[in-house]
Amino acid sequence: ARVAAVVPAAGKGSRMGAKKAKQFMELAGKPLLSHTVSVLKRVAEIAEIIVVVPPGGEESAIKDCLLPFDLQSKCHVVPGGAERQDSVKNGLLKARELGADYVLIHDGARPLATPELFRKVYQKTLLHGAAIAAVPCFDTVKKAGENNLVETTLDRSRLWLVQTPQGFELDFLLEIIQKACDQGYYATDEAGLLEWAGKEVKLVPGERDNFKITTPEDLRLAQCIKGGLLLTRIG
Ligand code: CTP
Ligand code: MG
Repeated sequence: ARVAAVVPAAGKGSRMGAKKAKQFMELAGKPLLSHTVSVLKRVAEIAEIIVVVPPGGEESAIKDCLLPFDLQSKCHVVPGGAERQDSVKNGLLKARELGADYVLIHDGARPLATPELFRKVYQKTLLHGAAIAAVPCFDTVKKAGENNLVETTLDRSRLWLVQTPQGFELDFLLEIIQKACDQGYYATDEAGLLEWAGKEVKLVPGERDNFKITTPEDLRLAQCIKGGLLLTRIG
């Protein structure tokens, strides 16, 4: 089977509160997005990598994030859309054009996933048609009512915090995403679209390090992790 990765990286990063969108900010000496792409390049099963960037930012993404780190082979850069789902749809259309059968979608803002996680999610996608990385919820989760008053405690044993990669049969996901976009239904992840269509999705144990860089605190934590890895290698 032919596998493509789609990397949505067309967001504004408003919760980061920086001038530059977070995927282009520096992490341990290179743009955050370059880290994400370089992990994907270590997954031999992935034939094509489609990076979705803010419209008009295609050239600068190639010049700043791919070329300086020799990451350009296998990579295609396409413009995104207003919502993450629109960006993913553009990436999926490119994946179809490139002849992919399966797609692994991975947030540009998750630079710390390992190649092994992509392989695990891909294997489960082959078995189940759709599989997503997620970690069990270790904290107690409460639902609030009015004025931040606790309404109830959720059953933690069945709660999972969802990450990417998320793997799908390409034609199947494209059909559902087209329908959802046409009907104005927007989900926060692609698995949400399959749930909307009544399809099964398999949970695959993810990695706690594979958190999404959302706030300055996340970026600092990622800097620490990257710095630590570097020291281990030197030592
Ligand atoms: N994304 C995208 N297209 C959009 C919105 C988001 O490709 N229209 C991407 C982001 O670049 C990111 C991933 O989807 O890699 C996850 O989204 P999120 O963490 O919410 O990033 P932003 O939307 O950029 O951040 P914020 O919500 O804080 O503005
Ligand atoms: Mg967002």
